[in-house]
Amino acid sequence: MCGIIGYTGPRKALPLLLQGLHLLEYRGYDSAGIALATEGSLRVFKKEGKLENLEAVLPASSAAKSGIGHTRWATHGVVSDKNAHPHLGSKGRVAVAHNGILDNWAEIRKELESEGVEFTSETDSEVIAQLVERELETRKPTEAVIAALKRISGTYGIAVAFADKPGLIIGARNGSPLAIGIGDGEAFLASDPSAFASHTRKAVFLQDGDIAVLQAKSWEIRNLRGELSDREAETLPARTAEGDKGIHPDFFLKETFEQPQAVARALGNGGRLVKDLGTAKLGGLDMSPRDIQGIREIVFVAMGTALHAALIGARIVEAWARIPSRAEDASELRSANPIVNKDTLYVAVSQSGETADTLAAVREIQMKGGRTIGIVNGVGSTLARLCGSGIYVHAGPEHSVAATKSWSAQIVCSALLALAVGRSRYLSLGDGRRVVEELEALPGKIEQALALKSRVDDLARRWSRSTSTLFLGRGVLYPAALEGALKLKEISYVHAEGFAGGALKHGPLALVSPEVPTFALLADGETFDRTLSNMSEVRARKGPVVAVTNRDDPRLADAADEVLVVPPSLEVLAPVLESIPLQLYARAVASELGRDVDRPRNLAKSVTTE
Ligand code: F6R
Repeated sequence: MCGIIGYTGPRKALPLLLQGLHLLEYRGYDSAGIALATEGSLRVFKKEGKLENLEAVLPASSAAKSGIGHTRWATHGVVSDKNAHPHLGSKGRVAVAHNGILDNWAEIRKELESEGVEFTSETDSEVIAQLVERELETRKPTEAVIAALKRISGTYGIAVAFADKPGLIIGARNGSPLAIGIGDGEAFLASDPSAFASHTRKAVFLQDGDIAVLQAKSWEIRNLRGELSDREAETLPARTAEGDKGIHPDFFLKETFEQPQAVARALGNGGRLVKDLGTAKLGGLDMSPRDIQGIREIVFVAMGTALHAALIGARIVEAWARIPSRAEDASELRSANPIVNKDTLYVAVSQSGETADTLAAVREIQMKGGRTIGIVNGVGSTLARLCGSGIYVHAGPEHSVAATKSWSAQIVCSALLALAVGRSRYLSLGDGRRVVEELEALPGKIEQALALKSRVDDLARRWSRSTSTLFLGRGVLYPAALEGALKLKEISYVHAEGFAGGALKHGPLALVSPEVPTFALLADGETFDRTLSNMSEVRARKGPVVAVTNRDDPRLADAADEVLVVPPSLEVLAPVLESIPLQLYARAVASELGRDVDRPRNLAKSVTTE
């Protein structure tokens, strides 16, 4: 959460910083700010709210050739102009942008205030600016930053600009991602390299404890003792042409419609499927068949939508590989002092690869000797590096804060893992080949499910003002129901709940009323008839019901007000197809209610604080 950008070089910094902030806005949009460094002074512009508000107060142009910018997701201090970053030291000699949370900021603030330093914000971050400025009295900039960082505890990614050294930008990382971009006679600093990737693909990802000292024509990395660290720059993968909304009004809809391609890429465009052996080939897994056979249990860890995908992944593993599998909320697992078994494979699932809770869980597991792999979309992300091996999701960049295409691609990657493990154990050649065929057919079936859009739009017009919406499903469709509810509440702010069909009579039935629609998810298989009974129970209490199904059964017409039919598939893959109308519904309701679909209130795309 929070995005940082920095630039130093021969070009005008302002448009480059602004462009970077636009690309980082997914990390937070409570406020934004820019500090421009010119000889002897720092000019800071900052504004509460989305980037448009900052743009309205920025000068039309500025000659400054270096500066830093920040887009905020508030932790300490309310959302306001004065709490927006960058923060200036009280003498105006230093500007700091910070992503992370400091633990000991209150005592440092008290100490500085007793020395007469005047604070202007309520943030924890301002202490960094004040500390660096105090250290600058007696030290050079790099030493001053190091001395300040030695005083603080907590997480940080920071960018520091100096009034007296306008071409100098210093970055430092402890727990919050930061990368430097090395251009031709210019350098960038950013929380996510996509913020500078259109200018340079040469990047260095900072590690915890790194201090990056950037000037237009030079860069170096030091540690907290001030010693130089050897670091090689790496080349970022070529950028995909997915950075704009194209014909769509928002990224959410665009990314929903990109799911056929995202899933095809997750399948390696066929390259991850081995048809004749009925299995999956996963080069990044770095496990021999013997290693795979030694796995006694698979535990997924993730948060939010990725957790829902992981819950489905665990069920697919049990179905195909017949080994125990479960998915755990990473934040809960981490704090539960987990018992880590050496025969268990831990799979961290994440779109961004930067989710703090998921990273913390992986570190805890690794510290206890557990084997971890990642199912990660963010190439080169902290999680991908931490795990070292796994399956890249390859869904492509996801700009909308609410996840869509990463969700379906994560399920598919979990299915590939289940297939590879299953085939090395109990899954027969015939069953493996059937799975391969079904996976290959998935992108085309998603395409067909997307054709439900206009019917879903009609439903949204009818029910967008509902006080609540319920989602129910059984088996693999239970996590899909949870995801349907999450998507709706997240982007439309309509209260929604997902629950298992079996739980209906144990409480949620009390919520049913003519004003509260229920989406019932059904798939051809063992649970179909029981979910059908749930629908009758809801209708008997005058609750409107929408059936979302992969089996067009004549009984549905009597048990539902509307029936949305997606193409048939294996039961365990039905969540991918049945989520399509749910994503479209959430988006249609949000748009009926005039919400900012891509940037829902209070949220940010990467949750980099615990
Ligand atoms: C919901 C959503 C979040 C994320 C969660 C984990 O639409 O996007 O719930 O799924 O914050 O994020 P990643 O996948 O980046 O670890």
